[in-house]
Amino acid sequence: MAEAQFDRAAEDLGNFTALEHLNVEIPNQGLASDFYLVGMGFTRDPFLFPGTNNMWVNIGKSQIHMPTGDALVFRGHIGIVTPDREELLNRLQGVKKNLADTKFGFKEYNDHVFATCPWGNEFRIYEPDVERFGNINLGLPYVEFTVPPKTAKKIAKFYRKIMGAKTCMEKNGHGKAAHVKCGLNQELIFRETDRPLPEFDGHHLQVYVEDFGGPHERLQKLDLITEESDRCQYRFEDIVDLDTGKTLFQIEHEIRSMTHPLFNRPLVNRNPAQTNRNYILGGDNWVYNLPDTVGPSGRAMDPLKAPKAPTIAKRRALRAQATA
Ligand SMILES: [Fe+2]
Repeated sequence: MAEAQFDRAAEDLGNFTALEHLNVEIPNQGLASDFYLVGMGFTRDPFLFPGTNNMWVNIGKSQIHMPTGDALVFRGHIGIVTPDREELLNRLQGVKKNLADTKFGFKEYNDHVFATCPWGNEFRIYEPDVERFGNINLGLPYVEFTVPPKTAKKIAKFYRKIMGAKTCMEKNGHGKAAHVKCGLNQELIFRETDRPLPEFDGHHLQVYVEDFGGPHERLQKLDLITEESDRCQYRFEDIVDLDTGKTLFQIEHEIRSMTHPLFNRPLVNRNPAQTNRNYILGGDNWVYNLPDTVGPSGRAMDPLKAPKAPTIAKRRALRAQATA
């Protein structure tokens, strides 16, 4: 029997393989550019939606989509990892004047900078932390939703049973919370609150799933599908109590198969520190991942001592010993 050298289950993703984008409508593309591109330091997708009717913004391997329309606001906050707190604060300070008549604001906390977009979406921006966020130095590791009391456990059950996602419960001083794994180092968090919550306004998030048909069948049985978008995508909104059928919380989910043409599309991320007056040739692109390693291979150097020596290697070693 081979010794347990690795935590194999730690590498399991469950059915959600990536949280790719969030979508909020915004009323003013100019103000959004000031906040998301200049202030936050993100990059506008140069290839899709280059006009004033929509903007896609790249954050590592994730995006925020912003079609022009009435402002939509996530009920909770969005977690961001970006290097260099000082540079972030300088950039946010720099857009203060342009965003003066909006909901924009920012504040420093010990482990993050809190920032609000011109229409009220809230961000907690952390510096890279491999233990907490994995090997990224730019990305969108989580979205945390504030949900009504006594719903977190039931929400976890819904994602586990209907969507096939991996879930776990967290209890700390900030209220009971359900964590739903959304691919490598990404998750949705549902934290209970006693505070009144605004009505759901139609914002959405998009995830890629490996099992596309299974959740669809189960959602259809519950009559929860709201849109059969195309071959590779469907949508639903209601997260329901599987015992009573009662709606626990609403978010529009875009569920995409991994055969979707946009899956794993490479995204351009610029280095926001580059300026025309302080320029590094070759320094335009941001490397948004940190070094990762699969660790020691676990290969036994002596095939005779290997827990289950491959027959050919074993024979070869015995032959070598015999002729020595
Ligand atoms: Fe979308």
